[in-house]
Parts: sequence; C-alpha cells; structure tokens
Amino acid sequence: MVTIEKVDETNKQRVIDSVKQDVIKHVFAFYDIQHDPEHTSVYAAFEDEKLAGYILTYTATDVPSVILEGESDAASQLIEFAPRNQFVIHAPLSLLPIIKRKFTDAKHYVEDWMLVRKDEANFTKSELVRKLSTEEDASMLAELLSTRKDRPERGLERYLRWISTLPLYGVFVNGELVSYAGSFIQLPQVWMIGGVYTQPTRRNKGYATLATSAITEEALGSAEAAALFVRSDNCPAVSVYEKIGYGKIGEKVWVDVGTGLRP
Ligand SMILES: CC(C)(COP(=O)(O)OP(=O)(O)OC[C@H]1O[C@@H](n2cnc3c(N)ncnc32)[C@H](O)[C@@H]1OP(=O)(O)O)[C@@H](O)C(=O)NCCC(=O)NCCS
Repeated sequence: MVTIEKVDETNKQRVIDSVKQDVIKHVFAFYDIQHDPEHTSVYAAFEDEKLAGYILTYTATDVPSVILEGESDAASQLIEFAPRNQFVIHAPLSLLPIIKRKFTDAKHYVEDWMLVRKDEANFTKSELVRKLSTEEDASMLAELLSTRKDRPERGLERYLRWISTLPLYGVFVNGELVSYAGSFIQLPQVWMIGGVYTQPTRRNKGYATLATSAITEEALGSAEAAALFVRSDNCPAVSVYEKIGYGKIGEKVWVDVGTGLRP
C-alpha cells in the first residue's frame, strides 16, 4: 500500500538516500531538499518503506516549479498535493494523463532532456566570451533579458544575486552583452545548464554556441556531466547543444497550470 508523508527532518534522509541512487534523474529533488530547504516543500509516497514517488514544490523561481516523479499509482495520489494554480509541473511523459485529469485547462510542452559527459564535448572558444562578475555585468544582463518578452520582468537585485552566486558567461560585441548562458545547479555528478539566450537581432552568429560552450567547459572541469532541458521543437537551441556534444537522454513534459509561460 502507498502512504504519503510530508517530508521533514524525520524522514528527509530516507528520501535523499533513495534519490541519490540516480542523481541525474532526480537532480532537482537531490539538490533542493539539501541546499535550498527554505524554498522547497516535498510530499513523498512510500510503499513497503521504499520511495515510490514524490511531488516537490520549489518557490524560488519566477513561478512555483513542481516536480512530480514516480509510478502512476503513487503519482495519482501525490498530484493532490500540488499547489492550486499558477505553477509549472515538470514530469515524465507517462504522468501527463494524471496531471491533465487534475488540471484540465493545463497546457503542455514536450522537452528533450540532453546531457554531455566529460570527453564527449566540443568547445568553441572566443575572446568575445567572459564570465559575468561585476555590477555592470548585472545591469547588462538585465538589459539583455528585458528583450525577452516571454518571461516576467525581474529587478536588478535578482541579477546581482545570480552573478554573485551562479557561474554565468556572456558574449560581448563592441562592449554590449549579446548572449549568455549559465548554470543554476552545480553538483559533482552534474551541473544543470540553463538561461541560454541571445538578443533577437544578434541570432545565428554562433553567440549562444560560444556562451554555452564556456559554461559547459567549466561544468565538465568539475562535474561528470552537464545536462539541460530544451523544448523539443526549439530547433536553434537543439542545434546549439548538439554542436557542443549534448545528446538526448529522455523526454519530460513541462505543464503550465495557469501561468501562460512556455519553456
Ligand atoms: C536558442 C538561441 C539561444 C540560439 O542563439 P544563437 O546565438 O542564434 O545561436 P547560434 O548562432 O550559436 O546557433 C544557432 C543555430 O541554430 C540554427 N538554426 C537557426 N534557426 C534554425 C531553424 N529554424 N531550424 C534549425 N536550426 C536553426 C543555426 O543554423 C545555428 O546552427 P549552425 O551554427 O549549426 O548553423 C536563441 O534563438 C534564443 O535566444 N532563443 C530564445 C531563448 C531560447 O529558446 N533559449 C534556449 C532555451 S533551452
């Protein structure tokens, strides 16, 4: 029989011990529970003392980000612990019917889960690329991302925090930041790469390839692998990642429950 428990100090270690068997698959749970408990709430399903699934809600993102994992039996009970509205669920494709049954108006998008390991990567290097590190870089990042109309506006504070805590690389052309890529989770097993973006008038000049190469090179200098999620139909982005050596290892669904956001 499946029993659902809220994860707290008494049962947290059981969940960590289970997800650490496959850190790449459970990277968000493994990282968030241990490194950002303040913004993380988890309900776990146990069957015969073994972890059968979990639903994790992470609130440090623009909108709450929910991870649902597990067998259908467990997931159909866990979905009852999702927030009510305005969040994004990330789940295996097989759980989509359970999510859609609960949130009938939700929109979903299929994402490729891509990974590159040490010795598999091809790095393209250029003097145009450097790590972002200063307050001025944060202002330039804010300006670059103000051209991104599919994401909520964020204040300069957010970019200052990113630059002081996350490895981010930018491509500069005549002093202007035109493209960037970074990593938002760094573990010895895997770094998660994200935020890849090029200013719309500067696309198809190889800039995202340079920025993503730089962050991937740093990742593979200290981790076994680098991984990312990309919407399956985002051909330019998939092409960038394939050039660097990323290959598809699976698929996930990105389910929008009332936010209007798309991956
Ligand atoms: C994806 C994105 C970052 C690419 O930036 P970029 O600086 O133009 O990337 P590059 O110039 O390095 O490479 C683009 C590649 O896509 C290819 N491409 C462009 N349009 C394409 C299309 N419709 N179909 C297939 N490939 C396409 C280009 O030919 C180029 O590959 P090539 O160098 O082998 O010719 C940019 O389009 C972007 O910012 N998009 C919005 C944000 C986004 O989707 N980010 C990715 C999130 S995972």
